[in-house]
Amino acid sequence: MACQPALTLALLFLCAEAEGFALCNAPALQTKVFQYRIWDVNQKSLYLRNDQLVAGHLQGANAALEERVFWVPNRAFEPARLPVILGIQNGTRCLASPPASQPTLQLQDADIRELPRAGVASAAFTFFRSYKDGLWRFESAANPGWFLCTSARGHQPLGLSRHPDATHLLDFYFQLC
Ligand SMILES: *[C@@H]1O[C@H](CO)[C@@H](O)[C@H](O)[C@H]1NC(C)=O
Repeated sequence: MACQPALTLALLFLCAEAEGFALCNAPALQTKVFQYRIWDVNQKSLYLRNDQLVAGHLQGANAALEERVFWVPNRAFEPARLPVILGIQNGTRCLASPPASQPTLQLQDADIRELPRAGVASAAFTFFRSYKDGLWRFESAANPGWFLCTSARGHQPLGLSRHPDATHLLDFYFQLC
């Protein structure tokens, strides 16, 4: 503790010197957007059909249809819960799940770089991710207990479900491209 003030001063000094190199002032303002691949536990990837995200096996030339997921952490929520905002198409369209008794999943035009600045109002766009045995689940911040899911059948829309069962898959692979 006794060392803290001296360290802070030294850092301030460094920051003053580094200004112009964006070392100390930029990170607080900029949001880094990550680009990941997501696919379900049955190896189905996501693509757009009739403006809806669906999960299916994409073979051959169709592999090019796969949507990459763009995501940012949402610091308006408890960091330990790994809150993220998920989008496609360079973060111009984001996954949203407004609060409801039977929540639905939507794709909304929104700038993934701006949404975190909306604070808790961004809940509909926020998902808490949790990890187990190499797989991720994504729980809607606006609808606690509801998770992103795919259908066990191919080429069905991405949706939300409370529980995994024979027809709903809640587990995803989620990796850097
Ligand atoms: C993605 O969005 C960012 C920020 O709006 C922009 O600077 C960049 O050029 C976009 N990239 C592509 C491939 O459109």
